[in-house]
Amino acid sequence: MASVVRKAVVPAAGLGTRFLPVTKSLPKEMLPIVDKPSIQYVVEEAARAGLRDVLLITSRGKASLADHFDRAPELEEHLAAAGKSEDLEAIQAIADMAQVHYVRQQEPKGLGHAVGVARGHVGDEPFAVLLGDDIMHERSGVLKGMLAAFERHGGSVVALKTVEPAEISSYGAARVEPVEPGLVRMREVVEKPKPEEAPSDLALMGRYVFTPQIFDAIDRVKPGKGGELQLTDAIGLLLEEQPVYGYVFSWGRYDAGNRLDYLRANIELALERPELRPGLRRILNDLVARDEGV
Ligand code: UTP
Repeated sequence: MASVVRKAVVPAAGLGTRFLPVTKSLPKEMLPIVDKPSIQYVVEEAARAGLRDVLLITSRGKASLADHFDRAPELEEHLAAAGKSEDLEAIQAIADMAQVHYVRQQEPKGLGHAVGVARGHVGDEPFAVLLGDDIMHERSGVLKGMLAAFERHGGSVVALKTVEPAEISSYGAARVEPVEPGLVRMREVVEKPKPEEAPSDLALMGRYVFTPQIFDAIDRVKPGKGGELQLTDAIGLLLEEQPVYGYVFSWGRYDAGNRLDYLRANIELALERPELRPGLRRILNDLVARDEGV
């Protein structure tokens, strides 16, 4: 087994029912955060961490994902003729930042199943999984930290973040033991527990580095919550056989598949753009002033 992580798998085949009606005809991974689709942030994050082989798990109706990472000759010619060299470079960079491959999950049978579809491409290598609707801030450094932990310890690594007790039922929750600052060993995971049954308030957060043995665990897993093959349940099987670590972080994650967090991502990331910041601040200040006047 190779020990260096080179490949990233990005599941993006879900139905996006939390974001209807737009997701009836538009993949949620193509919804823009300011002016970039979520999926571009995710592929950029993988490439920044040195993972330039990216496999997108897609499904029917999601061809725009592949178009986004392809060349666009007509648009490129138009931008070149108009002398818009900055736009041209930005457009070309999208197609060049990684080698993007595609495979379809034929039915949305759950995240565990979606990752299982990657087996043929990944083979007997460790790999990372980045959920296509989870955005990490450029400065969060979570994936790089996870890859470093994988190199130090050799076991799978899952991103964990503390959430409010009431929120834990939206996530997988972990029982853990401390290993070193910011790193824990996972002892048990439960998918979407009731708050009173959660083993802790540490939630699994959309970034994973796996040994290839996760595929055997996925093969053995039975349909769980919602009748889907849950990745959390496969992690539960894996941690009974080999160490699985948790990389605990606190900042920089946005759930772009959730309406409110999607709006927060747009506002926070737009405020970081010098060309948008002054205008957006004025709008937000006006809104607050109006709200307080009511
Ligand atoms: P989510 O549960 O957030 O996605 O899965 P979903 O099922 O599309 O969303 P809702 O709950 O109906 O709104 C996390 C990630 O896993 C992918 C999704 O595309 C998303 O990026 N996924 C989920 C798959 O690729 N296949 C599946 O069968 C389920």
